[in-house]
Amino acid sequence: MHGHFDSQRKYTLAHDRRFAASADHLLFEGVDLTLLPARFGSPLYVYSAPEIRRNIAEIRDAFAEHPATRICYASKACSLLAVLQVVRETGISIEANSANEIRRCLAAGFRGDQIVYNGVVKREEELEFAIAQQLHAINVDSEEELAAIDRISRRLGQTARVCIRVEPNVKADTHEGLMTAYRAKSGIDLADAERVCRAVLDMPRVTLCGLHMHVGDQVPDAQPFGLATRVLVNAARDLETALGIRFSMINVGGGIPTPYRYATDQGGGGPENMQPQIGAAEFARAVLAEVRAWRTDIEVCIEPGRKVVGSAAVLLTTLVNGKSKTLHAEDGSVEGQVLWRMLDAGFNAVPDYKDWYFYVYNASRATQVHDLAVKLGGPLCDGGDWFRHGPLGEQFLLPADSAPGDVVVFLDVGAYQLENQTNYNAQPRSAAVLIDRAGQYRLVRRQERFDDMLRLERDLS
Ligand SMILES: Cc1ncc(COP(=O)(O)O)c(C=O)c1O
Repeated sequence: MHGHFDSQRKYTLAHDRRFAASADHLLFEGVDLTLLPARFGSPLYVYSAPEIRRNIAEIRDAFAEHPATRICYASKACSLLAVLQVVRETGISIEANSANEIRRCLAAGFRGDQIVYNGVVKREEELEFAIAQQLHAINVDSEEELAAIDRISRRLGQTARVCIRVEPNVKADTHEGLMTAYRAKSGIDLADAERVCRAVLDMPRVTLCGLHMHVGDQVPDAQPFGLATRVLVNAARDLETALGIRFSMINVGGGIPTPYRYATDQGGGGPENMQPQIGAAEFARAVLAEVRAWRTDIEVCIEPGRKVVGSAAVLLTTLVNGKSKTLHAEDGSVEGQVLWRMLDAGFNAVPDYKDWYFYVYNASRATQVHDLAVKLGGPLCDGGDWFRHGPLGEQFLLPADSAPGDVVVFLDVGAYQLENQTNYNAQPRSAAVLIDRAGQYRLVRRQERFDDMLRLERDLS
């Protein structure tokens, strides 16, 4: 196991498009990561614009066969304005899940007609705002939401374009909470789709554009995407016939996985779906085979989040101290020793610490053998604040000489981590740096200050 982990580290340093080593330090897109925490604070998220562009190019290429594809980046994966701007400059569209997320997209320069809006709860004022922005589509999650859209669009005298989100009843081999097309809270029953679509046709200010679904996140194989798209296409075809209409779009959602354990990694660690078998190409093939067998002229909308930003960020943490503790059995006998190494980032900074596998390296000693088995703890006064999935089960591997002050890096943390951070234990939320192009970087979010934390309690106006 040590060997596999260390071979992968060497392979990554030698071949990964993002990384290299210089003077024992880890470089990310040509930037020496060990220099950044002292300047911008620790823990620190570092995003790569080149990697975001490469990921989007990969998705575009995968869908090249179908020119009428609209890629809508799922902005909840990371909604930093600077990241949204990088995405916008590539020319793709965007997906949002609240009025404020829509506002973030607008602030980053997206137009209303480049935004699709999802969510099971869209408050009245959020719908009002969304309709006024003339979005590309609102994905309707329930009949009651549709009734609200009808009412608000008439009151505003503005047209709302909608897709109806349905549940195709297809399972996916991912974390249970990430399965969203089977027994999920989202969407309506397929059996109700005809009634709901008929209702839209009677609404003077609502335009029915198509159907929507989302199979799940970090889905490791293509089959569920193919199966669910077939269900969606069959439903759309039947509805077109029954209602005498022609849909303008079909939205198959997101879910393209990111490799957290790379294909070249022979070792273990973490849940099954951490080493997915597919990328954008296989996702596209599964979806397009079904859609294009039905219609080649329809807009295919996709909503990838993780695939766009997952591999585009690292988290820099500082090694603060270490200790050795004796493991006692209940009868008092000694089972062994556990080496602990404590970081300044815990689950406040890496919310997926329990479910996810991340490569963790010592960026200050990147070329040294990583063969010392340690448990990694965070700063929170919470018994659960230690990282669960290392290459040796609960244990991680660091160089034996690792010392306080070293910069320890978590790879592939670009999706859903920064976004879900908390300031539990009054830990500040992290700053973020963006590498615009090789070797060139800037601060795009400062670290939270103590004053920021108190503002909601002091400014009660
Ligand atoms: C409706 C919808 N679309 C897109 C996404 C993005 O998924 P992913 O980041 O896995 O591509 C999600 C994530 O939960 C979602 O709920």
